[in-house]
Amino acid sequence: MPAAVCQCIRRGAAEWNDGVPMNAGASREWLSLVVRGRASVAPTIVEFTLALPDDSELPAFDPGAHLTLRTPAGLLRKYSLINPPGERNRYVIAVRRDANGGGGSVSMVDGLTTGAAIEVSVPENAFPLVGNARRYLFIAGGIGITPILGMVRHLCARRSAGERAPDFKLIYLTRSPADTAYRDELTSDLLRPLVDLHHDHGKPGEAFDPWPLLERPVAGTHVYCCGPRGLMDTVRDMTGHWPATSIHFESFGIGDTTLFEANRPFAIRLARSGATIEVAAEQTALEALHAHGCRVMSSCEAGSCGTCRTTYLAGDVEHRDLVLAEGEKADQIMVCVSRARGGVLELDL
Ligand code: FES
Repeated sequence: MPAAVCQCIRRGAAEWNDGVPMNAGASREWLSLVVRGRASVAPTIVEFTLALPDDSELPAFDPGAHLTLRTPAGLLRKYSLINPPGERNRYVIAVRRDANGGGGSVSMVDGLTTGAAIEVSVPENAFPLVGNARRYLFIAGGIGITPILGMVRHLCARRSAGERAPDFKLIYLTRSPADTAYRDELTSDLLRPLVDLHHDHGKPGEAFDPWPLLERPVAGTHVYCCGPRGLMDTVRDMTGHWPATSIHFESFGIGDTTLFEANRPFAIRLARSGATIEVAAEQTALEALHAHGCRVMSSCEAGSCGTCRTTYLAGDVEHRDLVLAEGEKADQIMVCVSRARGGVLELDL
């Protein structure tokens, strides 16, 4: 049974990929904000504080939420909120300058100055912190610390307010101490017992091995992972024996696309109507389906939430998601990120 059906309603549009023309995100609500401050938090990472021009209250958000920003380069990008949800007068994000990306992050870091105006979506959340956990295990790599830092700050704020908040442990993987964003905070007296920093110094032999943490599923523990593709693939592979609802990934903007084949155009055939849709090399299958008027449900649009799961009947698929188990890949596809290597992809739509 496909989760994606042509009559379903969706919000927003797949509008943030490098090089893909923006399509205005007609169903997304936008805010005109001002940059109140910027600060370097690691050699290639800059933190931005955004607020309304009159510093009035902003729309609420939950831990794990993100904003979509229209960057100075005109490209749309998603960035996680790193301040706790209790702060209603500002949004705080951190941006890693990716010189090999499509230009969005470079334009943010090099061109977005204090006092500048920026168009920002209302917060959305494809990586929510479940409320019924007994314990959280956070695993973050590099800039993947951003959504998880927001969660950690939220839990700490709850504790400071005298609430009973679930226990947590954060494993934060970076190349070196100097490359570790928010290191002073994460090594403070408050967080030191709850945070393990691991540095691989750029040597594969020194990479962190999460298996001892993941070998035995613990009832009530939820695992949240955000980081480079290799880290998330490793955690996914090591948690196949955990309840699927206990494992959570966030991947937008930090995927290593060099792990995949170059995009090629292909065609989608809709099995139920017989219609054929062309998918250009710079388009996602989801975008092509939407352009055809086929409404497919989506949320993260980054291959990590499972919302756009669709059954396919034929095609040579390159799976790029973080959701499907090996046994599901023979007939399931996440159309927001995965695509055919060419030829025809027949969908059960
Ligand atoms: Fe989240 Fe496709 S929309 S996996």
